[in-house]
Amino acid sequence: MSGADPPTAPLLPASARAPGKCIVFGEHAVVHGGPELLFAIDLYTQVVVRAGAETSLNADRKATEHNPYLRAALARLLPAGPPVAVRAVSSLPRAAGLGSSAAFVAALVRALEPAGGRRSPAETAQLCFELERTAQGVGSPGDTSASVAGGFLTVNARGGSPLWTVELAGQKWEARRIEDPRWVWVVAYSGLPRSTADAVRAVGDRLSRPDGPGLLAEFTRVAQSGVDAVAAGDRAEVGRLLGENQQLLREVGVSHPRLEALIEAVAPVAQGAKLTGAGCGGSVVVLPQPGRETEAMRRLARAGAVPFAVRPAPAGVEPVEPR
Ligand code: PMV
Repeated sequence: MSGADPPTAPLLPASARAPGKCIVFGEHAVVHGGPELLFAIDLYTQVVVRAGAETSLNADRKATEHNPYLRAALARLLPAGPPVAVRAVSSLPRAAGLGSSAAFVAALVRALEPAGGRRSPAETAQLCFELERTAQGVGSPGDTSASVAGGFLTVNARGGSPLWTVELAGQKWEARRIEDPRWVWVVAYSGLPRSTADAVRAVGDRLSRPDGPGLLAEFTRVAQSGVDAVAAGDRAEVGRLLGENQQLLREVGVSHPRLEALIEAVAPVAQGAKLTGAGCGGSVVVLPQPGRETEAMRRLARAGAVPFAVRPAPAGVEPVEPR
């Protein structure tokens, strides 16, 4: 769509699904311009949007009050109505560090695409980030870029090939496509939900202290080395760097005893493990030793988490037939 085209209403009913994401290296630092490596995971949120008598989300007619993501999306995408009944179904646990809000926003944006012209992937990534930022107040475009792009990608890192640049309030982030190393990863949800915005603000305060720039430089070194090690297929180095990244996340205060217990429980069968996402609860990501994936999941479950073996979702957000 060019800027001169008047927006046209979407054709309803419409439906789309988008994957969640798993951050391997660089969460939090990416908000401050550091590099990040992440991949879209094969757990999805699907939305179906129909014209309705009143606007609702899963039959909640106060949803625009309760859900800031829906509120931001509808204000931008359907400013003049009509009222819509939105149904959302997700296999992603919420507030778990696995990108459920980015997947919801990306699916809504795709479902509500103007009938008159498709948005490019770069426009979709920019719009999804703006909506997430409106709803959340803080954050980077990593999660929304993963939901839009699918596969493995980096933000603010060297290597790979350019996908798009997302800009907001004078800050720019460059997303790049990198090759999937085709490893099996395990993520495990601790069962403790938490607020991404609170964690991001706390880390921002921490990084504004005198040793903040030095810490950010360390995050940058570890994440860029991680990107290089994935590109080289060096699992042992990736595992070691996961541990270094976790140490930095401890230092900025976003680990949690439950996450530490999970990392310890899986250590004997893992090449490396760390928290993934905002931390303070949420999930861990594990690179199991080859052939020990089931044992890793068993150990994490025994330690009280909900484990998932995840594969990169090859496709990002996509339309589906409304049913
Ligand atoms: O926990 P999640 O899925 O909301 O991921 C947050 C990742 C951060 O780097 C902490 C914030 C961001 O927007 O990049």
